[in-house]
Amino acid sequence: MYNIAVIPGDGTGPEVVREGLKVLNAASQKFSFDYELTEYDFGGERYLRTGEILPREGLQELGHYDAIYLGAIGHPDCPPGLLEKGILLTIRFELDLYINLRPVKLYPGVDCPLKDKGPDDVDFVVVRENTEDLYVGAGGVYKKGTPDEVAVQESINTRKGVERCVRYAFETAKARNRQNKVTLCAKTNVLTYAHDLWERTFYEVAEEYPGITADYAHVDATCMWMVKNPEWFDVIVTTNMFGDIITDLGAMIQGGMGIAAGGNINPEGTAMFEPIGGSAPKYTDQNVINPIAAIASCQMMLAQLGETQAADSVERAIIDVVSTKMKSMDAGRMGYSTSEVGDLVAEAVAVD
Ligand code: IPM
Ligand code: MN
Repeated sequence: MYNIAVIPGDGTGPEVVREGLKVLNAASQKFSFDYELTEYDFGGERYLRTGEILPREGLQELGHYDAIYLGAIGHPDCPPGLLEKGILLTIRFELDLYINLRPVKLYPGVDCPLKDKGPDDVDFVVVRENTEDLYVGAGGVYKKGTPDEVAVQESINTRKGVERCVRYAFETAKARNRQNKVTLCAKTNVLTYAHDLWERTFYEVAEEYPGITADYAHVDATCMWMVKNPEWFDVIVTTNMFGDIITDLGAMIQGGMGIAAGGNINPEGTAMFEPIGGSAPKYTDQNVINPIAAIASCQMMLAQLGETQAADSVERAIIDVVSTKMKSMDAGRMGYSTSEVGDLVAEAVAVD
C-alpha cells in the first residue's frame, strides 16, 4: 500500500496530473498494488487566495509519503520566482531530495530536431545534484538600486553533497548496464575550487566501480556533444545549475517539454516526480496540453516505489501511443486531446 501525495499545482498541472493518475490506476489494477492519494492545493491559486505559500505542517507531512506527484508550479499573477522558490525548491531542499534524475530518451516515432539521430542515439540520463550550488541562496546584495550595487551569489559545494550525488550516478550506470559510463559535466578549467572538489570526488568514487568508465566533459562541450553526438552519453552527473541548463537541452532532443519527466529523489527517503515543462498557463483548461511528460513521471514514480513491472508496462504503453498514435508531442497538435492521450496510455497498459 503506497501513500502518495498529489500536488496538481498551477496552470495545466491539474490536467496532466489527472491523466497520470488515470494511468496509475490502470497499472495498479493490472499489477495488483494498492495506493492512497492525498491532494494538496499548494500553488498560485492558494497563494493568491490566502497569502500562504507552503505551510510548515504541509511540508512536514509531505516528507512522510512514499512519493509525491507534482503537476506544475508557476502562476502568471504571482511575482516571478516566489512559488518556484517557496514551493518547488523548498520541498527539494527541506526534504533533502538530493538527486534530480532526468532521463533523456527519444522514443520511436517522436520527432527529434537532430539531423540523422534516432532512438538508438538519444538514450541517457542526467543525474543533477539538487540541493547545493547556486541554488542555496547564499550571498547577498549591498547598496541595492544604487550605481554602487554589489551582488554576490555563491555556489556551495560540499564533499558530502557531491559524493552522494556522484555515487548515485555510478549506481545508475551500473543498474542501466548499457555503456557502463559516467560523464562528469563541470567546468574544471575555470571553477578551480568548486569543480576541483567535484573532479577529485568523481575520480575517487570511480575507483569503487572498476567496471564503469569515468569520463569528463566541460559543460560547454557537453552542450555541443549532446547535439552532435548524443550517443556518447550514458549517465551524465553534474551540478545543480549546469544540470538545470543541460536538461532543457536534453528535453528538446528527446522530443520537447511535452515528453520530458524528472524525479527529485532522496534515495533514503521520499521522492517527488514532475513533468519538467512548467505550468504552461496559456493552455490551461483547453484539453490540448501533452500529458505524456506527466505520465512518464508517474512511470518514474512506479520505478522508484519498486513496482518495476508496472513501470516497464507504462513505458511500453507510452512508446506504443507516441509511436503509433500521436501526431506530435506539441500542445494542440497531438491529434488527440489531453484526456484522450491519457485514455490511450491507460488502455495500452490494460492490454499490455
Ligand atoms: C527545473 C526548473 C526549476 C529549477 C525552477 C522552476 C526553479 O527550471 O526544475 O528545472 O531551476 O530547478
Ligand atoms: Mn529547469
